[in-house]
Amino acid sequence: MIARRTLVAAGAALAALAAAPSAYAQATPFKIGLILPMTGQQASTGKQEEAAVKLWTAQNGSTVAGRKVEVILKDDGGVPDATKRIAQELVVNDKVDVLVGFGITPSAFATAPIATQSKTPMVVTAAATSAITERSPYIVRTSFTLPQVTVPMADWAAKNKIKKVVTFVSDYGPGLDAEKFFKSQFQLDGGEVTGEIRTPLRGPDFAPFLQKVADSKPDAVFVFLPSGQGAAFMKQFGERGLDKSGIRLIATGDVTDDDQLNDMGDVALGVVNSHHYSAAHASATTEKFVQAFEAANKFRPNFMAVAGYDGMHLIYNALAATKGKGGGDALLAAMKGQVFESPRGQILIDAQTRDIVQDVYIRKVERVPAMGNQLFNVEFDVQKAVKDPAKSK
Ligand code: PHB
Repeated sequence: MIARRTLVAAGAALAALAAAPSAYAQATPFKIGLILPMTGQQASTGKQEEAAVKLWTAQNGSTVAGRKVEVILKDDGGVPDATKRIAQELVVNDKVDVLVGFGITPSAFATAPIATQSKTPMVVTAAATSAITERSPYIVRTSFTLPQVTVPMADWAAKNKIKKVVTFVSDYGPGLDAEKFFKSQFQLDGGEVTGEIRTPLRGPDFAPFLQKVADSKPDAVFVFLPSGQGAAFMKQFGERGLDKSGIRLIATGDVTDDDQLNDMGDVALGVVNSHHYSAAHASATTEKFVQAFEAANKFRPNFMAVAGYDGMHLIYNALAATKGKGGGDALLAAMKGQVFESPRGQILIDAQTRDIVQDVYIRKVERVPAMGNQLFNVEFDVQKAVKDPAKSK
């Protein structure tokens, strides 16, 4: 017969085991597989997010609830087949606990089945097509969605004497979301979309498309292009004299991206656009983040950097909630419903959709004397706590 005292002792030991990370978990680092385009057309996203992840780690350490955290960075070159292969290797060979990154929508789509099959949380910190989070129950997003930032832009345009608009988008997931949601909201608000232009994702030459805009003389052209293409677009917009044609340029903030904005010059001045983050956002958290980031990198953090930083924040919180144990389902459960202060303002991970809820600002590009006379997106209007409109129906 086993003595009662032994049973009690065994029970206590079991309880202690359940509360504390197992010896295995303690000894094994928690691995974050970070997949980004470090080369190729989308390399600015990789550069921004890598810097943000390093800043997060420098500020918050690399131990959470007694567990060592290790980040494994891989370059997918922005090629979806490579993203998928790398994700598979990270899960099978490196046994990563989470997958993070995904610079473009096709990379996120390609990886979704791996997250589902392996029950690995997949934190999307860049790609922004609405449907991404529906491709796997293990996907959580800290970036944004195109419908989320586009609907407020359509509302603003309709309220500001813009009646006829030509849409101008990159011809893939996020561009098609922007085109569709701009049109439906703008029509609802009484406006008219008189033309829809799509430019190729890879190596676009904007000139012939801009000529079409000039010929059709709308009140405004609404533009979405992925981060990294804004400066080339602005240059050609100016070279064709469109900035002096009376056709207003309105856009999502991907075009007036903080990564490139200051180099765009006067052609960008006055461009009204909508987005969830500006380096000039007036809050102590933003200011601290931008200062620390610039001190470490000599370039300005853009919206990709912020989403990468918040992705790390989300993962650290989730790992702490599991007391360092991790586990796909436990991490996922801990990510759902998180609310915290980001350098963009307060954010929420909606527990039902696993997508981000955040404030969306209307901004105007201005030179800011108090900030070295540099170009910034200066926020002047806001829609609070915007859910992805593609999911809130
Ligand atoms: C995307 O591919 O989903 C994407 C990339 C860059 C952006 C926005 C969306 O700026």
